[in-house]
Amino acid sequence: MEKIIIFDTTLRDGEQAPGASLTPEQKIEVAYQLEKLGVDVIEAGFPIASPGDFNAVKTISQKIKNRIICGLARCIKADIEAARGSLQKAANPRIHLFLATSKIHLQYKFRKAEDEILELAVNSVKLARKYFDDIEFSPEDATRTDREFLFRVVEAAINEGAKTINIPDTVGYSYPQEIHSLIYSILNNVPNINKAVISIHCHDDLGMATANSLSAILAGARQAHCTINGIGERAGNASLEEIVMALKTRKDIFGNFCNNINTQEIFRASRIVSTLTGFVIPPNKAIVGENAFRHESGIHQDAVLKQRTTYEIIDPKVVGVEKSELVLGKHSGRHALIARLKNLGFSFDDKKVELIFKRFKELADKKKEIFNDDLVALVTEETSEKKKNYELVSIQISSETKKSAQSTVKIKHKKKIHEASSKGDGPVDACYKAIDKITKIKTKLIAYNLEAVTKGKDAQGLARVEISVKGKMIAGKATSTDVIEASAKAYLDALNRIA
Ligand code: KIV
Ligand code: ZN
Repeated sequence: MEKIIIFDTTLRDGEQAPGASLTPEQKIEVAYQLEKLGVDVIEAGFPIASPGDFNAVKTISQKIKNRIICGLARCIKADIEAARGSLQKAANPRIHLFLATSKIHLQYKFRKAEDEILELAVNSVKLARKYFDDIEFSPEDATRTDREFLFRVVEAAINEGAKTINIPDTVGYSYPQEIHSLIYSILNNVPNINKAVISIHCHDDLGMATANSLSAILAGARQAHCTINGIGERAGNASLEEIVMALKTRKDIFGNFCNNINTQEIFRASRIVSTLTGFVIPPNKAIVGENAFRHESGIHQDAVLKQRTTYEIIDPKVVGVEKSELVLGKHSGRHALIARLKNLGFSFDDKKVELIFKRFKELADKKKEIFNDDLVALVTEETSEKKKNYELVSIQISSETKKSAQSTVKIKHKKKIHEASSKGDGPVDACYKAIDKITKIKTKLIAYNLEAVTKGKDAQGLARVEISVKGKMIAGKATSTDVIEASAKAYLDALNRIA
């Protein structure tokens, strides 16, 4: 059996998705779930990018000792030093150096000649080698790079000590046969390639990230970069769940490969990342979408009842989807709640459990049945509670057909209660305008979405907003049985995420 190393970049490339930014605490929560999932490498961030990223990499590398923790760095001294600083206490640190090698990047981004880029790569790996044993090198935009030049850069990086060579399809431009031929040609033209592991990093601009990654594996790549739910720059990265489940499901093709992923943690990881980033999973998303294991047509339903495999290539239990979800309600006690939270992948100290139990009871008073998704929403709100800069105290709304809505909002900020009123185009608009009067932050509402967390008339409303503040996109979300309250809290959640 040959091992495929699963390199998860949810916390780096995934977090680069517009609007997906995570707080350091949320990053740690995701990292713990990645550890449970069994990924081999956690790319925890880009340490030079911000103090938040530096600290997240530092904390994750101090808390998670049985995984390789990786920090990204450009081929710049300050980046390499920052990666070194953040990974100083890591048990298994890795630096991931990247440098663009395609003509288009050389010409427009760097204005440098190929030989200068080669020299930069050599000097940077040399410098990184002073601090790190484990060096991964990525010739960015490799799939659009002249192959002869690519071979030279890869050979030089390995000569200086790079142990993994990652081949990025940075702009998701390639297709499976081309990736296959590229990996194959690297294996056959780079003289020292046997001293390194070849890795693949695919983006999904043409919807081929997973197919391209699998093709690279068939050609000889032994590490795959991926993210939970496929989140990432632009159209996203290759999704972990798709790569892993394709490897597992198509044993006829990938029977020689193994990996360390505990697939039963996939669904949980997916929900945690979605809830924390505020990124909705499309219902038809492979493996983790709400409809991935649902059968609508009578013919399909009938056949599945007779023999599941007629229309299901994956047993939902294998990815941790519980089909028969037992509901909790206002009569459920602490033990039932703790057991369910544990089952969902959360574990808390007694103090936190008490807080969550209190919130659970409040919710159960408003809502007859509490489903898993209700709990995940409640827990993630409760755990991000402490960083609240603006906190909703109350909202009053009056709205009438053919009249503009009016709202009065009270917000707690720096221990003081502020109040403002505003008219608006509907209750949500009136509410947001009143909030703007208090915060005085100039925002642009880019997207607003409201959906039910679970089923039933008393379902909680999950409001998601995306706002732009000084050109930066920030997402926010919140739940409540009152949809206006959820909308106001989602807006405040986004404002609270402004760095
Ligand atoms: O897509 C890309 O090229 C990257 C590099 C940093 C590897 O994310
Ligand atoms: Zn990328």
